[in-house]
Amino acid sequence: MITLLGIESSCDETSAAVLRDGTLLSNVTVSQMAHIAHGGVVPELASRAHQQLIVPIVEEALKQAGVTRSELSAVAAVYGPGLIGSLLVGLSFGKAFAAGLGIPFIGVNHMEAHLLSHFIDEPRPEYPFVNLTVSGGHTQLVLVRGTFDYALLGETRDDAAGEAFDKVAKMLGAGYPGGPAIDRLAAEGNPRFVSFPRPALDDDSFEFSFSGLKTSVLYYLRKVGYRPGDSPQLMRDVAASFQTAVVDVLLAKLMRAAERFGVRDVAVAGGVSANSELRRRLQMEATIRHLRAHIPRFDLCTDNGAMVALVGYEHLRAGRTSPDDLTAHPDLQFAVSRA
Ligand SMILES: Nc1ncnc2c1ncn2[C@@H]1O[C@H](COP(=O)(O)OP(=O)(O)OP(=O)(O)O)[C@@H](O)[C@H]1O
Ligand SMILES: [Mg+2]
Repeated sequence: MITLLGIESSCDETSAAVLRDGTLLSNVTVSQMAHIAHGGVVPELASRAHQQLIVPIVEEALKQAGVTRSELSAVAAVYGPGLIGSLLVGLSFGKAFAAGLGIPFIGVNHMEAHLLSHFIDEPRPEYPFVNLTVSGGHTQLVLVRGTFDYALLGETRDDAAGEAFDKVAKMLGAGYPGGPAIDRLAAEGNPRFVSFPRPALDDDSFEFSFSGLKTSVLYYLRKVGYRPGDSPQLMRDVAASFQTAVVDVLLAKLMRAAERFGVRDVAVAGGVSANSELRRRLQMEATIRHLRAHIPRFDLCTDNGAMVALVGYEHLRAGRTSPDDLTAHPDLQFAVSRA
């Protein structure tokens, strides 16, 4: 029996989870509130909040799982990419916790964790599959050929999709966090109200670009003299038009990759996979093409300890553990080959 504690602290979510033989027993996540007043994540506040939250959250994850410390086989924590101060809290805690219990420690790549979040719940994807990770800091299209066998098909050349959501939400005065705010507004808006550009939609690459789209929204708002609070309907219509443009591009590239590599399973992970239009249209597009679509349940879309525990479990089963002197790597790359 393998029982793992997984810890996530790369940005502004403090989370811990317990996984036993691949089955999730608990997943406790706190999204830090300290950043709301600032309209974005303040790194110093994030690491301080992790310091306060890490012990009670780990205790709560063990309690909810009904697992005692002595039953743990290993501890996994994220060591990059992310904010250095935030990473250091979870990583140092995880290493010390494992050392105190005399059990192995596994450092986990945060992007690999998002990618493997599809393996927490049934039905799991079958290899090979194409995954799109869309989060606050990344937009990556990856061909997953097998366990630990990843080929990067393309990434964003500038802003990540989640970053674009957050910035457009700020322009609209929609509040923070921006993604969920746009999602809610868009539900009551007209997606055809403004025809924003679909960057890189028709080129043959698997690269993305969201900076131009974001600027188009800014120019449009300037042109119509938009001021937050003036017209709630205009706010909803712009949110819906922007969201549809992003989803059009994301799904077009994902479906094209599925066709190019002849896969039967397509998947979307990362914070933006919580978006309701993306979820609905992914399912629709996949059905039309006789593909199986995978998207994590809501609490596994944004940062969580469960996906970290899952990656730790896979590495442990493959006999891979981390050295005691593993340090945090804010710019940690995802170890993938090119397709
Ligand atoms: N319903 C939603 N619609 C669109 N975007 C969303 C939604 N919910 C969350 N997001 C976006 O997801 C992002 C957060 O995702 P996540 O927590 O995976 O990112 P991160 O960990 O900060 O970045 P990374 O994983 O790249 O290091 C934010 O940009 C947020 O606006
Ligand atoms: Mg993330």
